[in-house]
Amino acid sequence: MKIAEKKLRYKIYESIEELPENLQLLLKNARKETQNAFAPYSNFKVGAALQLENQMIIGGNNQENAAFPSGLCAERTAIFYAQSQYPNVPIDAIAITAFFKDKITDETIKPCGACCQVLSEAEKRGGKNMTIVLDGQKQIEVIEGVNMLLPFRFSGEELKHL
Ligand code: THU
Repeated sequence: MKIAEKKLRYKIYESIEELPENLQLLLKNARKETQNAFAPYSNFKVGAALQLENQMIIGGNNQENAAFPSGLCAERTAIFYAQSQYPNVPIDAIAITAFFKDKITDETIKPCGACCQVLSEAEKRGGKNMTIVLDGQKQIEVIEGVNMLLPFRFSGEELKHL
């Protein structure tokens, strides 16, 4: 038996002003996106903004439904829209934020497992690492590559043996 370790590395910023300018703009877009969230059931308004390689910024927000599982997270709303309209354009970065009772959450928002999986495949399609910006009142975290979020991901390679 052997023990293996994987290390996580990410950057911590104290405020949005400290971020590189392109990520500041992206995070501001994500915060604006929360205004169109439809979250009457959770009151948790999530916004996501994607920076595409062609310099476009695509936004998304969570869309809930009275039949709860039918709703969709902000990240997947944004990614699926981007991929449906610009299938061959890699996503360079994503910024994610969440407002609860009209305030950004104290701790950074983390994408759910299903969103991490979708982010992971979007990154693979794009062929390069994605920068992930997680917003919070206390600090903002910047992660390089979805591998840091989901180190043991299902890559789909296994399907090739079917
Ligand atoms: N939600 C997101 O949109 N993204 C996440 O990363 C976590 C959760 C949404 C789903 C649901 O509408 C609400 O937040 C509460 O879970």
